Amino acid sequence: MSIASEPTAVPRSFYRDPAVLERELGEVFGRSWLFVAHESEIPQVGDYVTRSMGGDPVIVSRTQGDGVRVMLNSCTHRGTQVCKVSHGNTTTFRCGYHGWVFGTDGDLKGVPGRRALYGPDFDLSRLGLRQARTEVLHGLIFATWDPDAPDLMTSLGEFGWYLDAFFGLFPGGMEVYGGMHRVNVRGNWKIHAENFSGDGYHLQVAHRTMFELGVMGDQAGAVEGFVVNDPNGHCLRSQYLADEGVPATVFGYEDELIEKALAAADPEVRRFREKTTVIHGLVYPNLLLITTAPRYFGTDADGSVAFTQLRVLTPIDQHHHEVAYWSLVPRDASPEWKAKSYLYVTRQHGAASYFEADDLENFRRIDAGLGAVAGARTPYNYELGVGAAESGPPPWRGPGRIVRQDFTEANQRTFVGRYLEQMGERA
Ligand code: FES
Ligand code: FE
Repeated sequence: MSIASEPTAVPRSFYRDPAVLERELGEVFGRSWLFVAHESEIPQVGDYVTRSMGGDPVIVSRTQGDGVRVMLNSCTHRGTQVCKVSHGNTTTFRCGYHGWVFGTDGDLKGVPGRRALYGPDFDLSRLGLRQARTEVLHGLIFATWDPDAPDLMTSLGEFGWYLDAFFGLFPGGMEVYGGMHRVNVRGNWKIHAENFSGDGYHLQVAHRTMFELGVMGDQAGAVEGFVVNDPNGHCLRSQYLADEGVPATVFGYEDELIEKALAAADPEVRRFREKTTVIHGLVYPNLLLITTAPRYFGTDADGSVAFTQLRVLTPIDQHHHEVAYWSLVPRDASPEWKAKSYLYVTRQHGAASYFEADDLENFRRIDAGLGAVAGARTPYNYELGVGAAESGPPPWRGPGRIVRQDFTEANQRTFVGRYLEQMGERA
């Protein structure tokens, strides 16, 4: 797939038509690998959390034998949600309507009055909770409903290398700190997804106050932007430490921890982590990530530390989506460092943070500007960077399609292109 074949205009029906939402629940959410939880959220046998995969409610549970199951949170009798709470530990899920009982692996264990009411041949094994295919990468639990989807690493394509660099760097792994936060916001989920995929263009306008307050730090001259994308729809945008006079290091972690991690890392991973600062991106279709080093994002003076945040976008309807936020920290960091990182990410990028206030207001206003008749005749424009030259060869020798432009919609075009391909809109 080349950039030239990717769309530079998108009709507004993609953001306002209920038929598009209905179709994408099947074609996009029903066929992609979706992030549902982190292993550290369910460390003990019997632990579970309830989540969504697009329009489907699911239970993510840890079963005997250290397995992770992702299954539809809907009774096979009449469809009642068998688990009503967000998390807990249990040995069974008992449906609140007629009392069918399921194990934490989803198997149907018993039904009230089984022999007398259903007869001796009633086969429980046919009626377990519907199971999703599940794979775990560096503690990140992904699931898909599609039995024919390529495995997770194949679906991640060249982007798997970047997930290794983010989540596989610390030998002790990473864990969720502070639980999951969620908020319902106005605006189609795809607006949020394409913003995170690589919209550097909005920073100086939408987040101008953050620059004026010095929250963004002084990056002038030392860094330049680039974006990376993969034809499977995965994208990231980063700032590259172009100034050779600035020592390459990863800022904001405890010295011993980061030195040990970098010493054990693949040389190219090490170089990538040392030379890139703010990184945000999209694991197609709806997992967002951001990880920053505070020297280029805030100031060292206030004792800021690095952070890593994940978000999942779940459509509610064509005009609203739910955002779930997680903060990830190295498991081997000190309790003080973890608390600080959590405070920092919540303040900067949490549901009520400096940046989120700006972005969510713009997503609301995009929804308010959708219009009807005239709006439907006015497509969105995705041409940024098409006619502009790149500032040189790729600054980074990593996998993926690397574009040496900061202000470009190359990633948005990749996201939309992959989306249209899944929706069957492209020949
Ligand atoms: Fe679950 Fe009837 S709906 S037991
Ligand atoms: Fe923003």
